[in-house]
Amino acid sequence: MRTGWSEVSLDVDRASIVPIYRQIYERLREQILAGALPEETRLPPERTLAERLDVNRSTVVHAYRDLAADGLISQRVGSGSRVASLDGGRPDRSAAVPWWVTLPPWRVGQFPAVLGELAASDHGDSIAFVQGVPPAEPSPLGDLSRSFARVGGDVRFVLTYGDSEGYGPLREAIATRMRGRGCAVDMRDVLVLTGSTQGITLVAQSLAEPGDEIVVEAPTYPGALQIFGIAGLRAIPVPVDEDGMRVDHVEAILRTRRPRFIYTMPSIHNPTGATMNADRRDRLVTLAKRYGVPIVEDDPYGELAAAPVEPLLARDAEYVIYLSSFSKTIAPSLRLGWLVAPRTIYERLLLRKQSYDMASSMYIQAGVREYLERGYDAHVSALRRELMQRRAIAHAAIDRWWPATMRVPKNGDGYYLWATAPREVHARALLANAERRGASFLFGEAFFAQTGGDHNFRLALTPVPRDAIETGIRRIGEAAR
Ligand SMILES: Cc1ncc(COP(=O)(O)O)c(C=O)c1O
Repeated sequence: MRTGWSEVSLDVDRASIVPIYRQIYERLREQILAGALPEETRLPPERTLAERLDVNRSTVVHAYRDLAADGLISQRVGSGSRVASLDGGRPDRSAAVPWWVTLPPWRVGQFPAVLGELAASDHGDSIAFVQGVPPAEPSPLGDLSRSFARVGGDVRFVLTYGDSEGYGPLREAIATRMRGRGCAVDMRDVLVLTGSTQGITLVAQSLAEPGDEIVVEAPTYPGALQIFGIAGLRAIPVPVDEDGMRVDHVEAILRTRRPRFIYTMPSIHNPTGATMNADRRDRLVTLAKRYGVPIVEDDPYGELAAAPVEPLLARDAEYVIYLSSFSKTIAPSLRLGWLVAPRTIYERLLLRKQSYDMASSMYIQAGVREYLERGYDAHVSALRRELMQRRAIAHAAIDRWWPATMRVPKNGDGYYLWATAPREVHARALLANAERRGASFLFGEAFFAQTGGDHNFRLALTPVPRDAIETGIRRIGEAAR
């Protein structure tokens, strides 16, 4: 029996970075090789398929042409495209298929372009409230360069690969600082990372398998969502309010499901700026222990809080895996972060880290170790003051230039403002309009694992000059009107 083209099942993922013609090609190819589309099956006419998928006809033409080139379909004028005879059996035939077509499925996050956007710093003349980078002033560069000059001669340590766990004196300095924040950390619990992004990846890949569920905040850091998406993890979202993650929701989830871990930013949450209150911290740690689910505490901003805040790690060192970074307190170009993990999983994380980069740069670690003793504390204090001033400028500008219906909570702290636009304003449309006026930000959907954020957006207050904040906010206000 001949199968008709109406039975061809196809959909395309517009958010994917795989070109659409390639997606069509791959889906049809899979079905042909699997026998789901037998020999002589008539494929939909190009125009019909293009209409069905809402793509250009040339996209379908391109996909069919590649399938024909691989010998998987035959195209005859007048009778359209049909699945070819795979004579000699499918395995032989598949030998002729280019290798890149037979790769395992490529998992990308929901918004694959967002991480690249967070990393890219060239926005031309636009006032781009996009990247979470420290402000140009106060600059750590003078003291930092002097610190690097001091370690330059110590060839034995700083020009080798070094220990995968990290440079001993730096681990010791980090452990001492963490003890100062109330956490019982020994230097042996510290694993130095090439950026805390590496730590999120290590945790995602060492604690869970593709298909496993995890709990994340909604909204949450898009970079983490991207990593979890690539690792094939399924995120269960939990809302965040002005006191941080809604721990009552976590409890409801843990009663019926078995997520592998809970990913949270309890101290200066990205993007809302909220800090979790003490009751919720207690409750979250209690729940983690009761249900046997570890907490991954991502804390790159905690040290910048206007009032000192203890990490969750201070409450428990067995159920909390702690991540932090020098990216937000010194500079992201150092690519230097660390994690603190219980002995039970330290080795797992260490071996995986070795498979990525053997060790983080010893030279950078030694320089930063020096800097921690000469300049770091003064720099962090100055940075805190700068952040508070920038927030004050931004709030005043919002009060002045934005419609009363578009607001930002005032209780937050740190680098970001999380804005909510009125129902009728879609944040992506607002962004397009603001870009035309010379201002930009990150649209809210990127911060949600599934849906949400259509009317939200994040302003990073640090990548722009201080005196450009008001102008940028005014432009966004004009775009909203
Ligand atoms: C919550 C959070 N975690 C991790 C990172 C990445 O930090 P790193 O530069 O150390 O990889 C960021 C950067 O924006 C962040 O906001």
